[in-house]
Amino acid sequence: SLPVESVQEIVRKDPFNVPEKYIHDLDCIQNDVVLPQLSSDIPVIDLSLLSVGDEVELQKLDMACSDWGFFQIINHGIEGQILQEVKDIAAKFFELPIEEKKKYSMASNDVQGYGQVYVVSEEQKLDWADLFILVVYPTKFRKSIFWPTSPPEFIKAIEEYSSEANRVAKELFSSLSILLGMEKDSLLKLHDEVMQAMRINFYPTCSMPDKVVGVSPHSDTSTLTVLLQDDEVTGLQIRHSGGWIPVKPIPNALVVNVGDVIEVLSNGKYKSIEHRAMTNESKVRMSIASFICPQDDVQIEPLDTMVDGAENMPRYKRMRYGDYLRYSLKTKMDGKSHTNLIKLEDE
Ligand code: SIN
Ligand code: FE2
Repeated sequence: SLPVESVQEIVRKDPFNVPEKYIHDLDCIQNDVVLPQLSSDIPVIDLSLLSVGDEVELQKLDMACSDWGFFQIINHGIEGQILQEVKDIAAKFFELPIEEKKKYSMASNDVQGYGQVYVVSEEQKLDWADLFILVVYPTKFRKSIFWPTSPPEFIKAIEEYSSEANRVAKELFSSLSILLGMEKDSLLKLHDEVMQAMRINFYPTCSMPDKVVGVSPHSDTSTLTVLLQDDEVTGLQIRHSGGWIPVKPIPNALVVNVGDVIEVLSNGKYKSIEHRAMTNESKVRMSIASFICPQDDVQIEPLDTMVDGAENMPRYKRMRYGDYLRYSLKTKMDGKSHTNLIKLEDE
């Protein structure tokens, strides 16, 4: 992969500079319909109700996963202070001088550290974002060289938030196990040691927000993704009803999306939906995505409970998760889901 310049530095040097390689063809972005009026239809799930087995909330989760692939969760039990602290340290990290941040630079053959989305070719359009990615769980996979010792609160804030993100994901696993026709603890057993990677996205302001993309369309290779987004600045958009729907922030809520693993396990009933992040002219936006994944050795395939005879044949090949992940990272799909790589038939 090729080294990419920090977008934050480009903007710091000249707020009006947008290098050619960030500017998309007009039809790429502008022909896309944005449907802000549908934002309020994105399901909002009350986790405290799910956790006590509320049947109505469970059906809402089923609808959210099959019709949207995205939902927001409220009453998740994470203290506001923990959310604020992790956002604050993320912001402090990006405020560090570039020389300081470069100490944590991502190596070209790694996915951890400070840098940009890896680049496959010279022609590829680039994303208007800087990133900082850490593997947080299991703790034995942490690479201490990437964990800043300053600011001193950094490690504590990341740990407190990511252990809560794990707990929230595990609570959702119980409900999803039931919805997928299994015992309550089945998904948890499949994720007997959860893998969690945290990706902090930093989107500088952009003087050409209509021609530039913060994060290009993609779907997540995770089981679930838990996203803590800015309380005010919008940017995330999801594919639905033939257009892009902005996910309006609900203060202190978390955005959760179905990843490729759930799509495969559910045999396509639940979809890992394409999404992207946009930029804006006047406000920096940050988001923190926690990717909840199985261990590399776990075999992923449609569940027996979701496959029944000729009517519902398996739609995906069985694959080791680690192989799927590496296969996906090597293949740029231009917004198409990586699950197409293991689809057994074209629908
Ligand atoms: C992403 O899905 O990679 C970014 C999400 C966001 O910034 O809201
Ligand atoms: Fe994503």
